[in-house]
Amino acid sequence: MTLPIDMRAVHIPEPGGPEALRPATQPLPVPLHGQILIKLAYAGVNRPDALQRAGAYAPPPGASPLPGLEGSGHVAAIGPGVSRWSVGDAVCALLPGGGYAEYAVTNAAHALPIPEGLGLREAACLPETCFTVWSNMAMRGGLKAGERFLVHGGSSGIGTTAIQIAKALGARVFTTAGSAGKCEACLGLGADRAINYREEDFVEILKAEGGADLILDMVGGSYLPRNVKALAMEGRLVQIAFLTGPKVELNFAEVMMRRLTITGSTLRPQSDLAKARYAAELETHVWPMIARGALRPLIDSEYPLEDAAKAHARMESSDHIGKIVLKL
Ligand SMILES: NC(=O)c1ccc[n+]([C@@H]2O[C@H](COP(=O)([O-])OP(=O)(O)OC[C@H]3O[C@@H](n4cnc5c(N)ncnc54)[C@H](OP(=O)(O)O)[C@@H]3O)[C@@H](O)[C@H]2O)c1
Repeated sequence: MTLPIDMRAVHIPEPGGPEALRPATQPLPVPLHGQILIKLAYAGVNRPDALQRAGAYAPPPGASPLPGLEGSGHVAAIGPGVSRWSVGDAVCALLPGGGYAEYAVTNAAHALPIPEGLGLREAACLPETCFTVWSNMAMRGGLKAGERFLVHGGSSGIGTTAIQIAKALGARVFTTAGSAGKCEACLGLGADRAINYREEDFVEILKAEGGADLILDMVGGSYLPRNVKALAMEGRLVQIAFLTGPKVELNFAEVMMRRLTITGSTLRPQSDLAKARYAAELETHVWPMIARGALRPLIDSEYPLEDAAKAHARMESSDHIGKIVLKL
C-alpha cells in the first residue's frame, strides 16, 4: 500500500465552541513499536471530544493533539513488534486521540476485529463506549445477572450501550432520560423501565423496587446524594463523568450504614496495558453479544469529517439519541 505524506484532518487551533474545530492538512502519523496505522473509514464522536475542544480535557502525553477517540477502517501500516494484524485487515479501535483524520495510529492491542454482522460504520461507534461501559459496569461495578441496574443518560452513546450490555448480562435495567421520545428509544433497546427525569423521581422509583444494586452515572452534581439514596444495601455507584459538576455535600453515614461502594474512572489516562486488558475482555464477552444480535450501536446521525463542528453542535444540543459518526 502506498501511503501519502499528508492527510485530511480536523484540528483545534484554539479551544472554544464547535466552530473551534477546523479542517486542516496534517502529516501522516507513523506507527511506533507495538502500534498500527489505520486508514479510517469512520470515526465516532464522543462527549470527551467536546471537552477537549473546549480546552477541558488535554490529550495524555504522546497522544495526537487531534480529537477523536475511536474509529474503524483498514490497517495501512504496522510498527515493529506487531504480530496480530496485517496490512489490509478491517479493524475498529480505541484511539489515544487523532480519530478526526484520514489516518490514525494506536496500540495494536487496542484494535479489535469488526464484529460479526456489523459494517465499518457501526463498528466505528463501539470502542470508546464499549471500553468505558464494560470496564466500569462489569469489571469495576461487578454487575451480575438478576441485579437491578440504573444507568443515567440512557439515550447517550454510553447509555444506549450500557442498557443493551446490562440486559445481555441478565440484569433488570432502569434508566433515566430527558424526554418521552428518549425514554421510548431506551425501552426499544431493552430497558425494563425508562424514567423521564423531568416528570418522575428516579429515587422513589428505585426505592420502591428495593434499590439499585449498581448505578452508572455521568450526571453528578445533585444526582450524587440522590444516587446514594437510590442504592440498595451493599449497592455500588460508578461515576464516569460530572455533566453538572463534581462538588456536592454528601452524608457519608448513609454510605457506611448501607455498606455502599462509591468509585469511578476515566478511560483515556489509563495505561496501554489496562486498555489491552479491556480489549481482550470485550472480545471474549461483548463481541459474542454482538454476533448473536444482543447489542447493536444505535446511530443518530452521520457527518462528513469536514462538518465535525456540526456534529459537535448536534451532540451539545442533546437532541441526539445514540451515537454520532464522522465519515472519512
Ligand atoms: N469516564 C470515562 O472514561 C468516559 C468515557 C466516555 C464518556 N464519558 C462520559 O460519559 C458521558 C456520556 O458520553 P457520551 O459520549 O455517551 O455523551 P452523549 O451521547 O452526548 O450524551 C450525554 C447525555 O447526557 C444527558 N445529560 C444529562 N445531564 C446533562 C447536562 N447537564 N448537560 C448535557 N447533557 C446532559 C443528555 O441526555 P438527556 O436529554 O436525557 O439529559 C445527553 O444526551 C459524558 O459525560 C462523557 O464525558 C466518560
